[in-house]
Amino acid sequence: MQESREITGAVGKAEAEAGHPPTDARVLRDALGRFATGVTIVTTRTAEDGAPIGITANSFASVSLDPPLVLWSAARASMRHQHFAAAQAFAIHVLREDQEALARHFTRDGMAFDGLDWASAEGLPVLRGVLARFECVTEATHEGGDHTIIIGRVTRFMQDPGARPLLFSGGKFARLAPGV
Ligand SMILES: Cc1cc2nc3c(=O)[nH]c(=O)nc-3n(C[C@H](O)[C@H](O)[C@H](O)COP(=O)(O)O)c2cc1C
Repeated sequence: MQESREITGAVGKAEAEAGHPPTDARVLRDALGRFATGVTIVTTRTAEDGAPIGITANSFASVSLDPPLVLWSAARASMRHQHFAAAQAFAIHVLREDQEALARHFTRDGMAFDGLDWASAEGLPVLRGVLARFECVTEATHEGGDHTIIIGRVTRFMQDPGARPLLFSGGKFARLAPGV
């Protein structure tokens, strides 16, 4: 038994290292999820009635310092996609390690701002007390398969140098080890 387990394990590892084509979306998603990220909430206002709307996103990335550009990707399958794809401006909030509940909140309900600590900045709904915030005007949108890639030009930003980040890795929320 012992020997057979070892052989199976060795074959499995060799196969894993050889790589395989992305035919199974779930397996590909698992592999992509090994890339650890921070967690953000993107906010804007709906075009119809100007209501604040938000979504949890970990596809955020910096693109360019000069000009100052960032991006995130909005899933076309999301009920909120149309609002973000059409928005002329948006704010990206990088979450602190104690804001997992806020992250979970905006995975479920994008319109529920009641009871949250937020304000209006140049017309954009902005959340207070985050690790960093980037207010952006939409520079470009690109079709990216089942997502829309949204590039923003940063017009204002802030950060809390004393706070620590919320992380997402392997499909789970995580935090930096103490002392890091
Ligand atoms: C950690 C994490 C990261 C996510 N990142 C993204 C993202 O980058 N883009 C996106 O469209 N949805 C992302 N989602 C999913 C959305 O937050 C949301 O749950 C999903 O779009 C369902 O939206 P709907 O209720 O509008 O259909 C993420 C969810 C989690 C938990």
